[in-house]
Amino acid sequence: MRDERGALRPETNEASGTSAVRSSNDAFLRALFREETAHTPIWLMRQAGRYLPEYRALRERVGSFARLYKNPALACEVALMPLARFPLDAAIVFSDILTIPDAMGLGLSFVENEGPKFERPLRDERAIRKLFVPDPFDRLRYLPDAVSVTRHALAGSVPLIGFSGSPFTLACYMVEGGVSKDYRFVKTMLYDRPDLMHRILDVAADAALVCLNAQIESGAQAVMVFDSCGGVLSTAAFREFSLPYTRRILEGLIAEKDGTRIPSIVFTKGGGAWLESIAATGCASLALDWMTELGEARRRVGARVSLQGNLDPQVLFAAPERIAAEAEKVIDAYGADATGLVFNLGHGVSQFTPPEHVGALVEAVHRYSRKLKSTKKSRLRR
Ligand code: CP3
Repeated sequence: MRDERGALRPETNEASGTSAVRSSNDAFLRALFREETAHTPIWLMRQAGRYLPEYRALRERVGSFARLYKNPALACEVALMPLARFPLDAAIVFSDILTIPDAMGLGLSFVENEGPKFERPLRDERAIRKLFVPDPFDRLRYLPDAVSVTRHALAGSVPLIGFSGSPFTLACYMVEGGVSKDYRFVKTMLYDRPDLMHRILDVAADAALVCLNAQIESGAQAVMVFDSCGGVLSTAAFREFSLPYTRRILEGLIAEKDGTRIPSIVFTKGGGAWLESIAATGCASLALDWMTELGEARRRVGARVSLQGNLDPQVLFAAPERIAAEAEKVIDAYGADATGLVFNLGHGVSQFTPPEHVGALVEAVHRYSRKLKSTKKSRLRR
């Protein structure tokens, strides 16, 4: 089905009158809203990617990462790969945060073993003044289309997450031109020409917002903002250059679709010092890196937001018994019987992770949390 703008739309179940029904497994959405669940839901950042041999084979066949995410049918196929192997509680649309600057004309390519590169990084005032917000249903059409195809293919099994980079994280890649160790160009601009930095952030915030709303309109049931570079800032700079722009996105998001609220998650890597201010932006949930202790985070902001996280991704290199033990520690740190935890890693899953270890983690989180939650229930009945 296509809407008036010609975009693909997910088959909603409006006709059957059950549009408020979320998904047959709605533990993820319930946990984001701090409602009771029978188990702690789990999904992993970068769950669809290079650690899966079937992903590597498909990428090889198709020729590049970009050919995968620019083709909605292939993007859907990749998004479903981890779900075919493991009983994960959510799917995430297969794309990248850098599609936005690519649609702004910066010329994105992914160089093998070097990561993303922009042909025309933003360094001069003229280019910055010319920056524009791309129409998500035109230049980025493959993204909302990937969302609707994936949502349809999931057929209500688990909820689908849409995402974007935070304005500051997008600006880092746009100005640096790729991955950076010292953030030299972006920090030079931020301190020398804050007016230019604010101009980039302004456009990036509008672009991220329209992109997230396009994903919601196309069937995303939750959205996540990745501020993966936020933690490189001083507290003062974070308050000036990252937080207000993330807040602006959250304030503009479509709050409800087909009678169901759309929760938002904010991930600020290295943001442990600022949990209170991030929680005050209006997000439903905070995603935490592995440096932040979950119990402490819960004491600080747990009454306002749910938490997502935060196993060190490198634990997945250890033996399955160790993985299970470390996962239990994370759940215990939060307070096992409590509501409001979505289990995840503290950052993306490494390409060197053995896939069976991901299976061991998912199994351990489900088993341990089910046991604890059923003990709580029988305690309450007594
Ligand atoms: O989580 C998922 O499974 C959905 C897909 C997803 C990708 N990128 C696919 C991807 C998501 C949510 C992202 C977000 C993203 N992309 C972030 C924010 C999260 C984070 O990791 O901090 C950032 C900073 C990027 C930018 C980016 N894309 C980098 C730095 C790289 C190279 C390094 C790396 O980890 O590969 C990419 C490439 C990328 N994005 C791949 C995938 C599957 C690898 C592509 C390939 O070589 O096949």
